[in-house]
Amino acid sequence: ALTAGGHAFGKCHGAHPADTFGGAPESEDLHLMGFGWLNDEEEIARGNITTSGIEGAWTPNPTEWGNDYFRLLFKYDYELVQSPAGANQWTPINPDPEDMAPDARDPSKKVPTIMTTADMALKRDPEYRKISEKFLNDQAALDDAFARAWFKLCHRDMGPKVRYLGPEVPEETLIWQDPVPAGTTPSDAEVARFKDAILGSGLSVRELVKAAWASASTYRNSDHRGGANGARVRLEPQRSWAVNDPEELGKVLDTIEQHRGDLSMADAIVLAGSAAVEKAAQDAGFDVTVPFMGGRGDATEEHTDAASFEPLEPFADGFRNYLKTKASVKTEEMLIDRAHLLGLSIPEMTVLVGGLRALGAVSKHAHHGYKIGVLTESPGKLTPDFFRNLLDMGVKWKPVDDSGDEEYVGVDRATGEEKWRATRTDLVFGSNSQLRAQAEVYAESGCEGKFVCDFISAWNKVMNADRFDVSYAKYH
Ligand code: HEM
Repeated sequence: ALTAGGHAFGKCHGAHPADTFGGAPESEDLHLMGFGWLNDEEEIARGNITTSGIEGAWTPNPTEWGNDYFRLLFKYDYELVQSPAGANQWTPINPDPEDMAPDARDPSKKVPTIMTTADMALKRDPEYRKISEKFLNDQAALDDAFARAWFKLCHRDMGPKVRYLGPEVPEETLIWQDPVPAGTTPSDAEVARFKDAILGSGLSVRELVKAAWASASTYRNSDHRGGANGARVRLEPQRSWAVNDPEELGKVLDTIEQHRGDLSMADAIVLAGSAAVEKAAQDAGFDVTVPFMGGRGDATEEHTDAASFEPLEPFADGFRNYLKTKASVKTEEMLIDRAHLLGLSIPEMTVLVGGLRALGAVSKHAHHGYKIGVLTESPGKLTPDFFRNLLDMGVKWKPVDDSGDEEYVGVDRATGEEKWRATRTDLVFGSNSQLRAQAEVYAESGCEGKFVCDFISAWNKVMNADRFDVSYAKYH
């Protein structure tokens, strides 16, 4: 529908041979002001433009919406011809005069319409043909499908509908907008009750923090999808993503469900993680409160286009020291990419990685459990141990074996005794000068309080990354 509707309008440009193009925009003279690949000026003056090299319009009236594209595609047999520029294109055999298009240079003249090879596929391919025939015989269906496809094309990177502004926002809610039913704000008493209940449930800091991270860290700044709102982490496909250690996640979600009372699952998952962070800070000697902003709603399977969530699965999540498959991109670069998608600055990324490691919130390793990158003797306490032990000159690092460069062993430089295991994502905070500068701030004695405050602030940023409902209600 989108292609057929789009090609109801306009024309292709291939009025003269293409060997007269100018240079690319950046290589052209300054005074051309960003224009490039320019045609011969005399040809332009005659109205002869060449861009794709294909020449002609698809429909007899290329400035008006209609169904002429499909009508002509099916009314005629087409033959392969060459445009004046030499490109292959298709033209109707013996078109009726009323099915000819006005010449772009001289509207008093009529010229044959055209189809590109891609257009011809809509008739020749048996699967496309079924769809094309439906639209040929039902213009209302084409109108509706085009309107919906066009709207999706132009709005899908705006994220949920709550981000739309202005009087023209359609009332209909569309599944690709990832709708989330409105939530209710829990009372302070209910929040306090749940925190006590979940911390007394037997679940560890690691388990609670990982579940909250699994829920919130799906957020992408690029198209505003994902995030903790809706609690889609408890639905397929997210629930079964390897990065989420599904068995552990399932146990945590079941326990949260038992204790959540009036809270939505989406709120309870975040609050459980934040309560665990608070406990971890208190166990490290800092009597702090992790702020919590409730009001998230729970989406169901009916609200969720499950197939469209599959591409959101992380191949790597350096925050959890997780790598699904080694990619051509370096693993540590994938951490930067994820931090960027979460809208985090480099200091925020750094403090989160160090804090999550200290909490033991890493993905389960096939042989070493929850040890990789957890450079602390006291996992579960919010200490800057990760940075201190990573930068400790008494530790010498080497690749674990000859099998690859993803896993490293840290040994006591004097005795050779194994102390730690880590990944590229961990060691980059020592090897890269920019990241090392960040790590050194937190490793420094006296910065423990700053570390805890910065961690909580970055943690909250991730937990609330998708709370457009709150920020938009507040600021607009
Ligand atoms: C299979 C997908 C598509 C292919 C291969 C394709 C190909 C092309 C080509 C080769 C041109 C000629 C460019 C030139 O010579 O200046 C063109 C023009 C155009 N296309 Fe498409 N197109 C596709 C889908 C779409 C869609 C989805 C839309 C809009 C919804 C669209 C709207 C247009 C319009 C309006 C023009 C005319 C531009 C003008 O008058 O200068 N096309 N397309």
